[in-house]
Amino acid sequence: MAEKTTKKRAAKSSSRAVIEVKGLEKKFELTKDKYQVALQAVDFDIEATEFVILFGPSGCGKSTVLNLIAGLELPTAGSIKIRGEELTKFNKIQLARHHRTKIGMVFQQFNLIANLSVKENVALPGAFAGSNYETRTKRAEHLLEMFGLTGMADNLPQELSGGEQQKVAIARSLMNNPWIVLVDEPTGNLDSKSSEEVMDILEHLNQKSRRTILLVTHNPDYLNRAHRVFFMKDGKIINSKVNRRVVHRRADTKTDDELSYEMKGGK
Ligand SMILES: Nc1ncnc2c1ncn2[C@@H]1O[C@H](COP(=O)(O)OP(=O)(O)O)[C@@H](O)[C@H]1O
Ligand SMILES: [Mg+2]
Repeated sequence: MAEKTTKKRAAKSSSRAVIEVKGLEKKFELTKDKYQVALQAVDFDIEATEFVILFGPSGCGKSTVLNLIAGLELPTAGSIKIRGEELTKFNKIQLARHHRTKIGMVFQQFNLIANLSVKENVALPGAFAGSNYETRTKRAEHLLEMFGLTGMADNLPQELSGGEQQKVAIARSLMNNPWIVLVDEPTGNLDSKSSEEVMDILEHLNQKSRRTILLVTHNPDYLNRAHRVFFMKDGKIINSKVNRRVVHRRADTKTDDELSYEMKGGK
């Protein structure tokens, strides 16, 4: 469980940070003179080895944080550094490259393309990144094998269960070997068994495949899975907690080679 509260840590600046967010503000223009403030004065650093959860009620700005880090939106004010590079200074081409190659995204609704096979869905980000057919197909097969989905490679997404579709979506998010995986309410459409499995996979990705994970949820069930939890309300981070047990446990965990961990069959 979350144990000790630290406000200091959230504000700490570290050279190991893969994500550094400072004074982040996002306003959405509703009409000519009406704004919706989605984020204000958001500060945090996340290290490469971390699994962090953004927790808070619907509408508090969680998805907006992910979309800004993903380079899908630009902030109204503030700074976002990814391994020291200022995202807000990127041009459109640099932003698109950042999104394609540094970021993997996973959504509540899976967002798989209905008329593409499972394998084609997983391979698709490879096509956008310019990888040739053979290379991206091989990698898709490797990722599907890792998630125990080889037998479903040629099926359409709708032939799979929700839990399986979410695993496909996680596999797809890894296609271009991203530094950071942004996960938005991944278990919102899943039963509790599939939800546990998806959370196990995300933990493994963090521990064994060394992906930085930033996960958004309004469900308190899984908060103990993360190294840290940022509590959000009304567009602000109002508190943060360190799960010391997770931090200590992870410190002892040996990491495997990149994505070589066999997910099939679990831990
Ligand atoms: N494109 C948009 N246009 C206008 N308002 C938006 C837009 N996206 C989000 N918002 C508003 O910003 C606030 C934060 O939204 P969001 O980040 O989606 O919250 P959460 O993911 O925590 O539910 C909400 O009030 C939402 O209505
Ligand atoms: Mg949201």
